[in-house]
Amino acid sequence: MAIQISPSILSADFARLADEAAAVAHSADWLHVDVMDNHFVPNLTLGLPIVESLLKAAALPLDCHLMIEDPDRWAPAYAEAGAGSVTIHAEAARAPVRTLREIRGRGARAGLALNPATPLDAYADLAPEVDMFLLMTVEPGFGGQKFLDLVLPKIRRARELIGRTGGDIWLQVDGGVSGETIERAAEAGADVFVAGSAVYGAGDPAAAVDALRAQARK
Ligand code: DX5
Ligand code: ZN
Repeated sequence: MAIQISPSILSADFARLADEAAAVAHSADWLHVDVMDNHFVPNLTLGLPIVESLLKAAALPLDCHLMIEDPDRWAPAYAEAGAGSVTIHAEAARAPVRTLREIRGRGARAGLALNPATPLDAYADLAPEVDMFLLMTVEPGFGGQKFLDLVLPKIRRARELIGRTGGDIWLQVDGGVSGETIERAAEAGADVFVAGSAVYGAGDPAAAVDALRAQARK
């Protein structure tokens, strides 16, 4: 199980996105882009035009996390634009199987995200359609929140499900991931770690990524 780190630019300086992306280009695996529409979550960030610009400016592949209503309408366009991974929320998708297939069909990895209260069992049958499950370890919408330990049992169950399914499915966690919490998320079975404030709130973002990776491997 390879450990991967995906710094979230939600905690970066939005006026200097290219520089902020470059700061982790040699230490991170992905750049996590939080798309929020002020409907699915109570916050508004950025959309396709900025993602298209970032695709040209950033060396890392983009890990687009769509916290939006109607992901069925929008997700394929992010894959078409060139995002390496596009994740939709189970709570928002009306036709998740079709949308996950459309993402894959456009050459991106397809992710399915579950909020803390959303049961994994309801979506277990979709495992063959996904390249990654994203288990939210905070309620989505804002950076800098506290990691919810109540999600740890779901992380364990997702790791078991992935083991049974046998496919190459990644297990991402997002929210409150820090030097203090990453070890228990990794121990529970997560292998892709989103970190916003723990990376961009640090004086040296690249060193923070290296430190998180080392902690996850412990
Ligand atoms: C929250 C976003 C996260 C956020 C994480 O809804 O999906 O990606 O940037 O921020 P931290 O790591 O600070 O909890
Ligand atoms: Zn996110």
